[in-house]
Amino acid sequence: MRTHFCGALNKDNIGQVVEICGWVNRRRDHGGVIFLDVRDKRGIAQVVINPNNTDFALAERIRNEFVLKVNGSVIARGQGLTNPKLPSGEIEIIAQHLQILNPSKPVPFQIDAADTSEEIRLKYRYLDLRNNAMQKRLKVRSKVTHYMRAFMDKHDFLDIETPFLTKATPEGARDYLVPSRTHLGEFFALPQSPQLFKQLLMMSGFERYYQIVRCFRDEDLRADRQPEFTQLDVEASFMNEKEIMALMEMMIRGLFKSVVGVDLGDKFPTISYAQAMEKYGTDCPDMRIPLEIISIDELLTNIEFRVFSEPAQNPKSRVAAIKVPGGAHISRKQIDNYTKFVGIYGAKGLAYIKINKDGPASPILKFLGAEASQNIIDKVDAKTGDIIFFGADKVKIVNESLANLREKLAQDLDLFNQDWAPIWVVDFPLFEVNNNNTLNTIHHPFTAPRVGIDELEKNPTTALSHAYDLVINGSEVGGGSIRIHQADMQQKILKLLGIDETEAQDKFGFLLNALEYGCPPHGGMAFGLDRLVMLITNSTSIRDVIAFPKTQTAACLLTDAPTQVPKKILRELNLEVRLPKKD
Ligand code: AMO
Ligand code: AMP
Repeated sequence: MRTHFCGALNKDNIGQVVEICGWVNRRRDHGGVIFLDVRDKRGIAQVVINPNNTDFALAERIRNEFVLKVNGSVIARGQGLTNPKLPSGEIEIIAQHLQILNPSKPVPFQIDAADTSEEIRLKYRYLDLRNNAMQKRLKVRSKVTHYMRAFMDKHDFLDIETPFLTKATPEGARDYLVPSRTHLGEFFALPQSPQLFKQLLMMSGFERYYQIVRCFRDEDLRADRQPEFTQLDVEASFMNEKEIMALMEMMIRGLFKSVVGVDLGDKFPTISYAQAMEKYGTDCPDMRIPLEIISIDELLTNIEFRVFSEPAQNPKSRVAAIKVPGGAHISRKQIDNYTKFVGIYGAKGLAYIKINKDGPASPILKFLGAEASQNIIDKVDAKTGDIIFFGADKVKIVNESLANLREKLAQDLDLFNQDWAPIWVVDFPLFEVNNNNTLNTIHHPFTAPRVGIDELEKNPTTALSHAYDLVINGSEVGGGSIRIHQADMQQKILKLLGIDETEAQDKFGFLLNALEYGCPPHGGMAFGLDRLVMLITNSTSIRDVIAFPKTQTAACLLTDAPTQVPKKILRELNLEVRLPKKD
C-alpha cells in the first residue's frame, strides 16, 4: 500500500513521488492551506494540501486520528520552516491525491498529551499505545526478549513450554484458580512460576532450559508488581552457583550493552544478605546512593533516655543512624516531613543531630547527654555541616524506616552518584521465623541449604541457603538458587515448614518421586522481564512497559475483566457464588 514510512522520509527523498499511510496526528488549517501531520510506526511526516488540490474538500473533513493514504511529492521545507525535532523535519509532502482509509470519532484525549489520567489511558489502551513513548517502550521490550532468546540459544539452552493449567507452585503469593468442568469440585492453579516443571526438565535430562513465560500471582500490587507478569526463566544441570551467576551476569551485561549501549562494568559486586540488612536495611539496596546505615546500639546502652537505651539493650531491637554529609541545612519543616514519612513504616519518631558551626544541635541533646552525642558523631564520622538521623525500635521497623529514608533523602537531595549500580545479594538465610514461631522459606522450598540434614535439624533458623538475587538500582530484577536434588533433604525442608508426609505427597508427590530416579544437581534463576524493561526505559510504573496491564486492584479497564459469569456456566461447573452481605 505504501512506498515509504512517514518517519523514514528525509531530505534524501526530495524530488521523489511517495505514497504513505498512517494516522492524522494533527490537522492545522492555515487559511486556505491544510497541514496534516501523518504518523505511522516510524514517526511523523508533514503533508500539505493546497486549495487547488482536487481532494481539498476531502481534506477539510479530515480530523485527528483518521487513517489516510497520501500520494505526493517530497519537497524541501521553506527557510525557517524546518523542524529540527523531527527526523523528517526538513521536508514536507505536497499532496497530489488523498484517500481516507477510515475516519475516527473524536478521540477522548490527545494521543501525545502528557496529562491524561491513567484510568482513561487504560480504558482506551489502543489509543494510548499509539503515543510515541508507549511505542518506544514496547519496541525496547521486544529488543530485550530478542536479545535474551539469542543469548540463551547461543549458550545451548532449549526453549521448552510448561503448562499454565497446573498445580500450585508456591512462590509466596496466592494462586489464581481455574475450575475444572471435567473434574467437578476440583481446580487448576495458574503457575506462580514454572519452578517445579523446570526442575522436572532437569530430571528429564535436558540440562539447559529457558522460557520467556507468564507467571500469575494474586498478591498486593505495587508500582513494580502485576498479577500476571513475565519472567525469563532459566535452569541448568551440573552448574554451580558461581557458574550460573557468571553466565546470567554475562547475559545482563550484554543485554544492557546491546539494547541501550550501557556498559555495566566488568564484574558485579556481591554482598551478603546480612551485610545488606546491616548497611542498607534492605535486601535490595540501591547502590547509587552513597549513604549507609550505621548501628549505634553499643553507644547508647547506658544512657538514661529509655527511648534509646531500651532498644539498644534488646537484641531484637536496633538503634541505627544515617549521616547525610552537608545535610545540616535541612529545615525543621522538612525534618517533620521525614518523621511522618518513617511513621509509615512504624517508626515512633526520628531523632537527629545537626553539626552546626557552633557545635551539635538537637532537640534531644539534653536527653542524650554530651558524651553519647559526641560518641554518635565520632562513630558516623560527622563533620560540620552534616546531619545525623537516627531511629530506635524493633529491628524490622528500624531497617524498613531507615532504608526508605535513605532512598527518600537521595531523591530529595539528588545524591545518586552513578547511573547504574548492579549488585548480587547472596547468603540468604534459608528460613524466616513467623510471629507464631513457624518457619517460612525466604526464597522457595526447593532451594538448597548450605548445611547438611543434621545441622539443619539442629539449627534451622541460622542455616544459610544457596540463593542469590540480582539487584539493579534498588530493584530486584532476578533471583534464583541451587536446588535440592535429594529426596530426603526435600522431605526434611517440607517437614520443617510444617508440611507432614501426607500433605507433602499430596502437593509435591510427583517431585519427591522424580527426585528418586537419578536427579542431577541443578540450579537456575528467573528475571522479572517487566522490571528489567522498566529499568532500561527509565519507567516509574510497570504498567508503562506492558501493552495491556492490570490496575492496582488487578482489573483490566479495557475489557472490564474480571466479570460475572452467567448462572448456566456456573451450573456446568457446579459452582455457586456467595457474596458477602452488604452492611
Ligand atoms: P521470584 O519469585 O524471585 O523467583 O521471581 C523472579 C523475579 O520475578 C519478578 N517478579 C515480579 N515482577 C512483576 N510482578 C510480580 N508480581 C513479580 N513477582 C516477581 C522479580 C523477581 O526477581 N522460581 C523462582 C526463580 C528461581 O528460583 O529460579 C522465582 O519465581 O523481578
Ligand atoms: P518524645 O520523647 O516521644 O517526645 O520524643 C523526643 C524526640 O525523640 C523526638 O524528636 C522524636 O522524634 C524522637 N524519638 C522518639 N522515639 C523515637 C524512636 N523510636 N526513634 C528515633 N527517635 C525517636
